[in-house]
Amino acid sequence: AFKAFQERFINAFRNIPDFPKPGIQFKDLTTVLKDKAVFAETVDVLTEMYKDKNINKIVGIESRGFIFGAALAYKLDAGLILVRKPGKLPAETIKEEYELEYGTDALEIHVDGIEKGDRVLIHDDLLATGGTAEATCKLIERLGGEIAGVCFLTELGFLNGRAKLSKYDVKALATF
Ligand code: PRP
Ligand code: MG
Repeated sequence: AFKAFQERFINAFRNIPDFPKPGIQFKDLTTVLKDKAVFAETVDVLTEMYKDKNINKIVGIESRGFIFGAALAYKLDAGLILVRKPGKLPAETIKEEYELEYGTDALEIHVDGIEKGDRVLIHDDLLATGGTAEATCKLIERLGGEIAGVCFLTELGFLNGRAKLSKYDVKALATF
């Protein structure tokens, strides 16, 4: 049954050649979201994976991690915490920088978003180099949260982002 789901899921991504740069095959998530059956099934599959893990917080990573992050928080009866690009969160935050191909970027979280002992599921749409997710893990652990899992819709296996997350239980619904 999972294989059949996976096929529907993968087929729902629209392939955009040469976006955002020549040579890159961009997997467009909007066609997954537009398909109400695939959207619902994806939420249900992720819910099944984590429903017995005592998760009380979902952390969604800006911006594409917010979409399924919100649906998962509802289904798993958990709170939703936003990890955002610098300067977007209004209350007191902590920050983690991470490496990009050229230079660095950073992510922030509200200090009261996570409490000691929270069981946290991190969600983002895509695992590429792993820098974004690794910075998010550090933010959560600095606040005393326990990372129960890190889940992605898709991963680019050839970039080996999992190496940066080897301490954690990492799942992706499909690999490109
Ligand atoms: C993309 C993607 C992941 C991240 C993965 O987000 O949605 O969040 O890159 O890359 P990494 O594993 O190499 O760190 P992007 O920063 O493009 O922002 P967006 O989600 O707001 O579009
Ligand atoms: Mg993103």
